[in-house]
Amino acid sequence: MASKIHPTIKLASGYEIPKLGFGVYKTPPDETERCCLEAFKAGYRHLDSAAMYHNEAGCGNAIRASGIPRDQIFFTSKVGDISYEKAKAQVDKTLSESKLDYIDLMLLHHPFGGSENRKGGMESPVEAGKVRSIGVSNYGVHHLDELEQHISELEAERGGKGKGGTVSINQIELHPWLAHAEIADWCSKRGIAVEAFCPIVRGTRFEEPSVKKLAEKYSKTPAQVLIRWSIDKGHIPLVKSVTPSRIVANAEVFDFALTAEEVQELETDEYSPVSWNPTQAKLED
Ligand SMILES: NC(=O)c1ccc[n+]([C@@H]2O[C@H](COP(=O)([O-])OP(=O)(O)OC[C@H]3O[C@@H](n4cnc5c(N)ncnc54)[C@H](OP(=O)(O)O)[C@@H]3O)[C@@H](O)[C@H]2O)c1
Repeated sequence: MASKIHPTIKLASGYEIPKLGFGVYKTPPDETERCCLEAFKAGYRHLDSAAMYHNEAGCGNAIRASGIPRDQIFFTSKVGDISYEKAKAQVDKTLSESKLDYIDLMLLHHPFGGSENRKGGMESPVEAGKVRSIGVSNYGVHHLDELEQHISELEAERGGKGKGGTVSINQIELHPWLAHAEIADWCSKRGIAVEAFCPIVRGTRFEEPSVKKLAEKYSKTPAQVLIRWSIDKGHIPLVKSVTPSRIVANAEVFDFALTAEEVQELETDEYSPVSWNPTQAKLED
């Protein structure tokens, strides 16, 4: 079992995050515990849920039932209703739904809600020990610029560096047909890790010749090639499945690596989201 456990990287918060996450978007609430337990058996130690997915309880049940020490599992959830007070309330709700003592990572799920509501973040749940790391999701460069501005304003208002919160993650849709280079560069320059959702493009690109070629070369599945592309780009892919054989196969990506040229070759100039794409929302939305 030990050899299957995934490597980690250190976040700006100082905490470690496993390089591969198990997503549970659209995983039915009554199947979530079973899927997460299968994922733990396959070596995942990182679950990606959200208030909007209505399956935080199943994630918490799996974490407790697994017998794995709590500090070896990384649990993410997301706030759907953006404002300082509502984010604080959501943290308490997630803790109560999941019956966990703390949340490893809490993200603002999207930038919608207006500038004032985006300001403030989640520092008080962090200070209270309820949340270890915080971040955002679906933020475009203009949202990130505004976030940086908000953080310096909060530091000035609250008396110093760090008082505006430390952003560890931006979670966005990211794969070779939506490489989001500007957002990834912005984050990389500031030490913010990028999580890639829809890393296997929901199965819609497995027949692409560029993918098939690498799958043949490495005797891997197209899904494994796309997950590996994300890891080799330095991102943290979050892959979802309810299918036991896929849960296992999707995690078998730490025994090969793409070359720098192959990573480059797979990437396209396309801008083809398969999910919602709030990164383009206006600041006033
Ligand atoms: N922050 C956000 O706004 C946001 C948005 C979307 C997603 N996410 C996160 O990212 C995670 C992944 O995104 P996603 O679920 O939308 O897309 P995805 O992981 O790219 O694709 C999941 C789909 O592919 C299928 N699949 C999984 N492994 C496969 C394989 N090896 N071969 C063929 N098909 C396979 C799954 O089917 P089965 O389940 O039937 O096996 C499911 O239909 C989510 O679960 C969620 O945690 C976040």
